[in-house]
Amino acid sequence: MNQDKIIIFDTTLRDGEQSPGASMNTEEKIQIATQLERLGVDVIEAGFAAASPGDFDAIDKIAQRVTQSTVCSLARALESDIKAAGEAIAKAPKQRIHTFIATSPIHMEYKLKMTPDEVIRRAVDAVTYARTFVEDVEFSLEDAGRSDMGFMKEIISATIEAGAGTINIPDTVGILMPNEVGERIAELVDHVAGRAIISVHNHNDLGLAVANSLEAVHKGARQIECTVNGLGERAGNAALEEVVMALKVRSNYYGNLHTDINTREIYPTSRLIATITGIEPQPNKAVVGRNAFAHESGIHQDGVLKNKLTYEIFRPEEIGLDLNDTLVLGKHSGRAAFKDKLAKLGFAPSDEELNSAFERFKELADKKKEIYDDDIRALVTSEMTNIEKTYELVALQLMDSTGGVPSAAVTIAHEGKEITDAGIGDGTIDAVFKTIDRITGHHGRLLDYRVKSVSQGKDALANVTVKVTFNDNEPAIIGHGLSLDTMLASARAYLGAINSYLSMEGMLKIRNSDSGGTV
Ligand code: KIV
Ligand code: ZN
Repeated sequence: MNQDKIIIFDTTLRDGEQSPGASMNTEEKIQIATQLERLGVDVIEAGFAAASPGDFDAIDKIAQRVTQSTVCSLARALESDIKAAGEAIAKAPKQRIHTFIATSPIHMEYKLKMTPDEVIRRAVDAVTYARTFVEDVEFSLEDAGRSDMGFMKEIISATIEAGAGTINIPDTVGILMPNEVGERIAELVDHVAGRAIISVHNHNDLGLAVANSLEAVHKGARQIECTVNGLGERAGNAALEEVVMALKVRSNYYGNLHTDINTREIYPTSRLIATITGIEPQPNKAVVGRNAFAHESGIHQDGVLKNKLTYEIFRPEEIGLDLNDTLVLGKHSGRAAFKDKLAKLGFAPSDEELNSAFERFKELADKKKEIYDDDIRALVTSEMTNIEKTYELVALQLMDSTGGVPSAAVTIAHEGKEITDAGIGDGTIDAVFKTIDRITGHHGRLLDYRVKSVSQGKDALANVTVKVTFNDNEPAIIGHGLSLDTMLASARAYLGAINSYLSMEGMLKIRNSDSGGTV
């Protein structure tokens, strides 16, 4: 193992999916995994196979698609979880099982109700069993940030002995300061003495996840677990783009430490994930935020015009952001120009996806004068992540609601037939969604509704994201809809959620956390 290489372990599809409102359907996860591979991440944590049949299915499909990156599934230190993980990743050329158990006194006593000795035995059994499926096993000490160093050394030695090649030290609750992380990692690296790779997984509750991860590699950790746009449970995880760019920009500080990330894929990856999850990075977010290269003050603008490096520590092109090329195609652009643009934006659609995306682009270009990169990204992403459309919106008509009762007439295609119905509601959206419920026979409860303009201008595309539950005992479903008309985008988003639900029906169940720890 090259001692200077930092392994990038991406957990956007697992910890990132635990961000409130970030659940994704299988097609979307495959699309993201494909992009993560293009980005050059070493390990893709594709999910938690035992959490639900839907998670299992997504990992299995990703395992069949991804060839360069290692595909990993999380598993509690339970036989059933490890078996599910082993089976879900079985078709991947490079496979890893990531098993974990909590090691802090508070978690062992109150959550696991296990003694430290029992925890060690369970961890050793888990690693030993995981090794019957794969050679590459990672063991995590959940809540390591609040665990006793002596106990950690004991369980680390025992799990390495059982066959773990990577030992992950998560600060699960994001409580540690950078120097504390540094001291603990230095001591554990010393203890492990080359028998395994030390990894870190920092949460951002105090805004220190990136700083803590960088301090850890400075002190000998050689794997960073992170997510694109810093998504993740609560305040999120260390942001992949920030750790990677910090290591690159400050290579004078970090010496030969490097990653294999193709930094030019950072911006396209960030946009893909924001489009799919509907969660935009904050405008002033480091590296990928909308304002990351915006210079507002006159003095700064003057400096940048003379030499960009006066106020920019790296060039936008290094992360794949071409600021001079945002105004793109128009209605006279042909298929070849469109295809070329997609390639520049990092998309590699199949012929079928290209055809339907081009058709939608032409329709859009008829109505919208200026089409931007973000419009193209949104359009193509929605084509490429389309699950089978059991129901398809054909027409939507809204009756004038000023002063009257809001009502909607909806036509939907289903199994070769068109069905039309009309209904009323407390508001226009309510009327549209209730009418769709009547036609499809699926009654969703709307948990969240968000509308975002894809680019600038009054004629911007609206990207609507809905979060709906069709059964309170099952995970919520996300639907996306794209249109120049917000109501049409809303209807598409809601029908998208119904189609997603139907594609996953029978594969959904509650993510339980009976024993061995939650994630
Ligand atoms: O935060 C955490 O402890 C985790 C583990 C499962 C690695 O996500
Ligand atoms: Zn985590």
